[in-house]
Amino acid sequence: MRIIYAKDYDELSKKAANFIAAQVTMKPECVLGLATGSSPIGTYKCLKAMCKNGDVDFSKVKAVNLDEYCGLPKTNDQSYAYFMKENLFDGINIDQANTNIPDGTNPDVAAECKRYDAVVKSMGGVDLQLLGIGNNGHIAFNEPSDSFSLGTNCVNLTESTIEANKRFFESADDVPRKAYTMGVGTIMSAKKILMVANGDAKADIICEMATGKITPNVPASILQIHPDVTVICDEKALQKLMAVAPELVER
Ligand code: F6R
Repeated sequence: MRIIYAKDYDELSKKAANFIAAQVTMKPECVLGLATGSSPIGTYKCLKAMCKNGDVDFSKVKAVNLDEYCGLPKTNDQSYAYFMKENLFDGINIDQANTNIPDGTNPDVAAECKRYDAVVKSMGGVDLQLLGIGNNGHIAFNEPSDSFSLGTNCVNLTESTIEANKRFFESADDVPRKAYTMGVGTIMSAKKILMVANGDAKADIICEMATGKITPNVPASILQIHPDVTVICDEKALQKLMAVAPELVER
């Protein structure tokens, strides 16, 4: 796991966007695994600017997103489908027919999980998976648990995640209690993984993920055994790790 220092969110976002643009330039028909949440918004903003300037071409890229809230249609402004259009897809030259996200409105859990696993498989797997990290160590919506999930599954969101995500909703009561999420096994099968994390609230979990034991109670800890993971963090998210194991951080 390479852990890269960025002085602030702007620098983190530029570094992460350059990393993704390099992947697309090297393999124009690549499969990008994409994340939502606040962490990648700056990265997406940089990618939109790069695409507008003609510095990166997404026309052959296929995209597969990590997760979606259950019960929210694509038109709901809190759905992750809506988020992706607003924050990335409408601002780059990707063919939106080549973008994929679990269907939060499908009430048939088994059918939706099977369908989404087949989508990822039909693309031949993910070349570069972008991730954020939850304060409790979740990746996608794979919450702390007794075992690592394999494929797409439907999860009950933890109180900590509902609390963290309520900032996007009118109140905590409006946050959906369930979500479809790509499994940890699928995430681990991506050829490359890029994680972005910023802010004080992520300092403890970044340190735990990188130096703690590998356990499904901290789902992101499994990234320690993936052969090609890059984590880009701002100084705030790195403060604990820099105090405990500064040698792990590349500046
Ligand atoms: C979103 C996702 C989540 C977020 C995580 C961090 O697609 O998969 O795991 O990455 O909850 O969210 P933010 O970036 O809002 O702190």
